[in-house]
Amino acid sequence: MWKLFRKERDSGVPFFAQMKKDIHSHLLPGIDDGSPDAETSVSFIRRLSDAGLKEFICTPHIFGDMFRNNPETINRALSKLKKATADAGLDVKLSAAAEYMLDDYFMELLRSGERLLTLNDTYLLTEFPFSIPPSNLEEITFEINTQNYQPVLAHPERYGYFHKNPKVYSRLKDFGFLFQINLLSLTGYYGKPVRKAADYLIKNNLVDLVGTDLHHEGHLSVLLDSRSQALFKKKLGDKIYNEF
Ligand SMILES: [Fe+2]
Repeated sequence: MWKLFRKERDSGVPFFAQMKKDIHSHLLPGIDDGSPDAETSVSFIRRLSDAGLKEFICTPHIFGDMFRNNPETINRALSKLKKATADAGLDVKLSAAAEYMLDDYFMELLRSGERLLTLNDTYLLTEFPFSIPPSNLEEITFEINTQNYQPVLAHPERYGYFHKNPKVYSRLKDFGFLFQINLLSLTGYYGKPVRKAADYLIKNNLVDLVGTDLHHEGHLSVLLDSRSQALFKKKLGDKIYNEF
């Protein structure tokens, strides 16, 4: 009986149909380490849309040493993608922000006074280096908050230097960060310690937002696998995470 009920409740409606909006992806063609061209982006978006995602905030990297994207490069790629999806007859909503590495270049941009690219009016998607955390984090977040941005930390579960001391997550919350976890982390795609950290964040109600962080076909095929979709539902429940 229970088995039947569980089966019925999980009748194959993908998690993406409940999520509807992705707020972290590298779908803008040709400007970072994500999709290389519009054709690839359209094929990815078609498959995501078929699974239920209808809105995409594309977030290319802005990273001083590697990807010095700016509003011009980003908006140009967004226009190209909008045209390509319309030509392909896809009914999806596309917009763009960025994923800012908290490096010296970011501090230059922040201090320039030019408005940064945000997910909504205030949500600023940020990432840390994978080798070491930013050393002056308290100062950086103070400046971000002073300029009326709401910092969002992308994939906190992926930073290995936090795994031995998960209490640091609460400290980051005290600095003002919202947390966006990657759905792929829940599958073990990035390894067991990352999966465990993501489970810890969910269990302790520290997750505010979720994203695909989609870069390539390898990510997409795992995300769309029916076992992954069922797992996302099991771990994240019915809560709608990206409503803003
Ligand atoms: Fe990303």
